[in-house]
Amino acid sequence: MKCITISQLNNWKINQYKFAAITAYDFSFAKLFSNQGIPVILVGDSLGMTIQGNSSTLSVKIKDIEYHTKAVRKGAPNTFLISDLPFMSYYETKQALSNTAKIMRCGANMIKIEGGRWLTEIIKELSSRLILVCGHIGLTPQSFNYFSGYKIQGKNKHDANKLIDEAFVLEEAGIKMLVLECIPKKIAKKITENLSIPVIGIGAGKYTDGQILVMQDLLGITEENTPTFAKNFLAESNSIQEAVKKYIQEVQTNVFPNIKHSF
Ligand code: KIV
Repeated sequence: MKCITISQLNNWKINQYKFAAITAYDFSFAKLFSNQGIPVILVGDSLGMTIQGNSSTLSVKIKDIEYHTKAVRKGAPNTFLISDLPFMSYYETKQALSNTAKIMRCGANMIKIEGGRWLTEIIKELSSRLILVCGHIGLTPQSFNYFSGYKIQGKNKHDANKLIDEAFVLEEAGIKMLVLECIPKKIAKKITENLSIPVIGIGAGKYTDGQILVMQDLLGITEENTPTFAKNFLAESNSIQEAVKKYIQEVQTNVFPNIKHSF
């Protein structure tokens, strides 16, 4: 696979070519995903739950993300690789800069941070140093205590307007990609259509430029805890390879997510 870059992803947005992204945490899965043609991989702090077995992402440390980013990069040398800055690793600019450097030295192309307006200064500082930053709004799992759980966000007019406003503010500050998690598809559509950067959805309906799934959800491993917006692609396939190919194809053809996986 040809090396995927941010300009490639921008072109896909312009040409309305939908792309599939997935989380990965190790060499073997990263290699398998890359071999099936997955263009974007996220080393998500979801690893706190899926790999470490904790009940939230709050336990994840920078050294965990460094370890998993190195392994994933070895398996997927040409994939566009995003890595999360974990909980409380970017609460002030200096700290965000030094933790970003650690992760990028492990092979990440872009870092992802959760939150809205309060991140403006940090994003500006990172962007002014030509670091690619991905925003993440809607349901931000690092704030699950504040939200009283993992709940859909932006349901009422006030909250929906706040999300739209935050998306604009983050783009203005310098993010080059945005993840929207668990928000009504109408709001995701409005944000996607009005931002010039690629927008990736998870539980945000079919209108975003790309989709992302946690690999354990896609493979049906999180059986009893699979979110309603996710789909077990392995259930309809004969192999993991086939399941991943089906995911890519269903995203490209707008079959996934359907109404059942949307709010
Ligand atoms: O950590 C993660 O896996 C994520 C995705 C849910 C987007 O942030």
